[in-house]
Amino acid sequence: MRGKGWEPWKPGLKLPLPGLPRVVAHRGASADAPENTLAAFRLARERGATMVELDTRLTRDGVLVVIHDSTLDRTTDGHGRVIETDAARIAALDAGSWFDPRFRGEAVPTLEAALELLARLGMGVNVELKADPGQERRTGAEAARLIERVWPAEGPPVLLSSFAEEALAAARREAPDLPRGLLRERAGPDWREALERLACTTLHLGRGHLDEETLRELVREAVPVLVYTVNDPAEARRLFDRGVRAVFSDRPEAIAPVAPPLPHAWS
Ligand code: G3P
Ligand code: CA
Repeated sequence: MRGKGWEPWKPGLKLPLPGLPRVVAHRGASADAPENTLAAFRLARERGATMVELDTRLTRDGVLVVIHDSTLDRTTDGHGRVIETDAARIAALDAGSWFDPRFRGEAVPTLEAALELLARLGMGVNVELKADPGQERRTGAEAARLIERVWPAEGPPVLLSSFAEEALAAARREAPDLPRGLLRERAGPDWREALERLACTTLHLGRGHLDEETLRELVREAVPVLVYTVNDPAEARRLFDRGVRAVFSDRPEAIAPVAPPLPHAWS
């Protein structure tokens, strides 16, 4: 069973979440390597990160690949929509040169290849489910099935997250023990109901919409709040001091020095 000790949130219940670090490398060490590539994940490890966040979505032929956008244009030398392109064509694209010629030849990884690398490196992973309209259920179910098949049962933490509640619900039906995080730009008035309905463990919120009052309420209710995307160490420190459990950062090595230590029992 994966996610041992990572129970769904319940009001006021302080979850230890063993293995969840203070800083999660956002799309890998994406300030210094092309986002969502194996190079970015390896660099995150070299820089001391113990967990990465990545984005996954389906190709036309139903393969989960690791890419943020719904189209190939920004981060590869290809064009068009991921959901309208076969995996073999995507595998042949260059996902490194747009970032820096030094990374020429870096590929768009399949989710399976990324998980295999991360497990080998001993790194935890937050798999963010990205889905074009209509693909939410399939994406959630396929990702959960794949993780169940390839992620070591006693391995580092694996956490699914999504803005798409349908994707989380589908993942839950497929693999109820895989921990889930609800991803929202802002918590919204129904955060409590949504966390309970989807049996989520964590709540992932955008840094730009985090008001003091909501954060105080979330911390009072012991919701593990993870904030994206925080690249300024002073801002990260302020968030930690206000009770934020972890931040996503493109520069994990810049944030780690300001992160307060976790209680021994949590690490
Ligand atoms: O998972 C946190 C964050 O990555 C969500 O936003 O657009 O960077 O995928 P985005
Ligand atoms: Ca993401």
